[in-house]
Amino acid sequence: MGSGGIIGLLATLGLTVQFAHGQLEPDCNPLNADCEPKKALSQENYFIDFTKQSSAPPDWTIANYEDVNFTPEGAELTYGKKGDAPNMWTDFYMLGGRYDVEMKIAPGQGVISSAVLWSDVQDEIDYEFSGNQFGEKPFPPKDGMWSVETNVFARGKMWDGAAAYQKDSFKPAEQFHKYSVEWDESNISWYVDDKVVRSIQAKDTPSGFAFPQSPMKLQLGVWGGGDPDNNHWTIEWAGGEIDMKGAPYTMYVKSVNITNKYPASEYRYKDKVCISSMRYDSVANGSQTRLSCH
Ligand SMILES: *[C@@H]1O[C@H](CO)[C@@H](O)[C@H](O)[C@H]1NC(C)=O
Ligand SMILES: *[C@@H]1O[C@H](CO)[C@@H](O)[C@H](O)[C@H]1NC(C)=O
Ligand SMILES: *[C@@H]1O[C@H](CO)[C@@H](O)[C@H](O)[C@H]1NC(C)=O
Repeated sequence: MGSGGIIGLLATLGLTVQFAHGQLEPDCNPLNADCEPKKALSQENYFIDFTKQSSAPPDWTIANYEDVNFTPEGAELTYGKKGDAPNMWTDFYMLGGRYDVEMKIAPGQGVISSAVLWSDVQDEIDYEFSGNQFGEKPFPPKDGMWSVETNVFARGKMWDGAAAYQKDSFKPAEQFHKYSVEWDESNISWYVDDKVVRSIQAKDTPSGFAFPQSPMKLQLGVWGGGDPDNNHWTIEWAGGEIDMKGAPYTMYVKSVNITNKYPASEYRYKDKVCISSMRYDSVANGSQTRLSCH
């Protein structure tokens, strides 16, 4: 039921995305239109220490009408009242490489914390966590048996088995851990504390689906999967209805470290008519990396 996650995530994203069909909806989808080039991460490495910030750092946007506090504990994304969904994302896109997020998830039944890479063509590479382990019993589980959900969307579609649960983290709402995604045109791997928990290969992509490989933004957020107004299946997936008596529920992000495989000043989609086999050119053309169909 990984799709439940994204459905709720979207309800509140504000600045450049709208909610549609349960998927992150870009302001311009290059598969359907000619879109402006997108700002790329021009360095190979980008590191931000949120414990040293006192307000939103350059290169990050905070969803409108939401607050993210920056304290010595890091970026604090809090579910404090019904409807809260603090989210922040990079203003730049990256194309392949790796990110590491050092974070502590929000506790609380039905409270979802997430780290999501997503693109204008609706590719997504997701991490999602539930404050009560998606309702699994016993709670709390033993060390090493906490659930991490990983998921992939490709051009807005999710294949059977794209969402999967791994059991490898330790007291994620009490301890900081490093969650990483490494991705390129041939494979995607998810890591917890530098230990691989899942890996998928492009060559194993089920027919009729694409492998995610478009420029992505990184988005971090918390939302109420267990909001009683959500549909039954979303609440079930999230682990049950949120108990506001325990609020506020806060996710803390200490740092983000990004390695961009194809640094550029911007990414531009060269050919909008490529439904199933987009590959990115391995050679950047000057400061632009062009995306094309092969
Ligand atoms: C994908 O697989 C290739 C070949 O095994 C390897 O060189 C590359 O580092 C892998 N990339 C990721 C992101 O795991
Ligand atoms: C960021 O990640 C890169 C690549 O994994 C690594 O070499 C570098 O030391 C990391 N930087 C920090 C500050 O952790
Ligand atoms: C590189 O970009 C220039 C200017 O946009 C264009 O004329 C040229 O065809 C491009 N070359 C390749 C190999 O894409």
